[in-house]
Amino acid sequence: MKVLIVGKGGREHAMLKACKKSNLVEKIYVLPGNCKMEDATRVDIDMYDIEKVKNFAIKENIDLTLVGPSDVLALGIKDEFDKVGLNIFAPTKSATRIESSRYFTKQLMEKLKIPTTKYVVFTDREQTLKFVSTLEKFPVTIKIDSLSKNLGIFIARSNKMANDIVNEIFDENENSKILVEEFVMGKEFSIFTLVKNEKIYPLQIVKDYKRTSDSEDGEHTGGMGACSPVAKVTDNEIEQVVEKILKPMAKSMYEDGYGFEGFLYGEIVITQDGIKVLSFNARLGDPEAEVLLPRLKSDFVQNILDVMNGKEPEIVWSDDVCVGIVLASNGYPSKEKCQDKMKLVPVDNDICFMGVEEKEGEIFAKGGRNLIVTAMAKDFETARELAYKDIEKLKTDSFFYREDIGKF
Ligand code: GLY
Repeated sequence: MKVLIVGKGGREHAMLKACKKSNLVEKIYVLPGNCKMEDATRVDIDMYDIEKVKNFAIKENIDLTLVGPSDVLALGIKDEFDKVGLNIFAPTKSATRIESSRYFTKQLMEKLKIPTTKYVVFTDREQTLKFVSTLEKFPVTIKIDSLSKNLGIFIARSNKMANDIVNEIFDENENSKILVEEFVMGKEFSIFTLVKNEKIYPLQIVKDYKRTSDSEDGEHTGGMGACSPVAKVTDNEIEQVVEKILKPMAKSMYEDGYGFEGFLYGEIVITQDGIKVLSFNARLGDPEAEVLLPRLKSDFVQNILDVMNGKEPEIVWSDDVCVGIVLASNGYPSKEKCQDKMKLVPVDNDICFMGVEEKEGEIFAKGGRNLIVTAMAKDFETARELAYKDIEKLKTDSFFYREDIGKF
């Protein structure tokens, strides 16, 4: 089989490694991929030019396409591939709304009585500013409704901070829609699934470390590290999320005429008041995929094909835990300046590459998150030790990492 992976970051690198292990796969293309995805053929096409991506898949007789980034899904790549009968495991543009519009999903959750964080939605700068000036309880979460760089999530710790965030969002786009949400604390985890219409197959749970620093006041990022599974989350809690949240969601989307196909994950928090959904995402997470997929012992591609063909997939997991630590450029996420040379010395564990580029045979950072070291072990402590030993070897003054990944 020929597999095409669309995207260029750590998540796509993890998918590439999982496809590489599949007995079904003969050739893997990454579009556009990055310079360290050495096991695949890179395709120099703009991933947002869906027509060109489709024509490439037709020309190369691609048997299966997998997509990483949600903004590519939101452009309707699945819809275009379906029109010409190309196999792609991905949601349609309309099903991707579960991620591409936070307000849409909040309304859907309200309809299905799925517990979620309280929120107020705004489309007008003055009204939003007026509202945040009256807030008395902090922190609050301010979210952009649509897909945005670095996820569009901000934590405000004072009226002044909320005021500045709102102004920044509207300065960037005067037509923004904003959700001002209650900030909740509790056990946080993401639960990943494979979905085809009303059929939903749970994978594993993952914890994503979202702030830049170990302290709670760091900036919100795409994720500075992850681990799987997540300590202290019980089987009963996972079952409740699957039965009461994920299954009704998939069923409702199917019954409403926009059945979901692809990877779907819910970000969940277990608060003192019970389970609440923070968000749904229509893809694999990054860096969540990098710690989820190494634990998969069954054939990734076979599992996907089975789900697509309406067969029960035989999904087998390693009992080992996986811890992944991101090395990011200084200044990430708000002031990404670093384009320094990376110190890529040999390490003992696995690396998925993120924002990197090659110049005259050397590897340079492209700002943002640059790589993630992942280590598997019988327990979190050992996996942490292994991963931190490697990340220390790779760090220079131009980069930083969090020190508490996989620590419970
Ligand atoms: N790590 C969060 C995300 O992929 O959206």
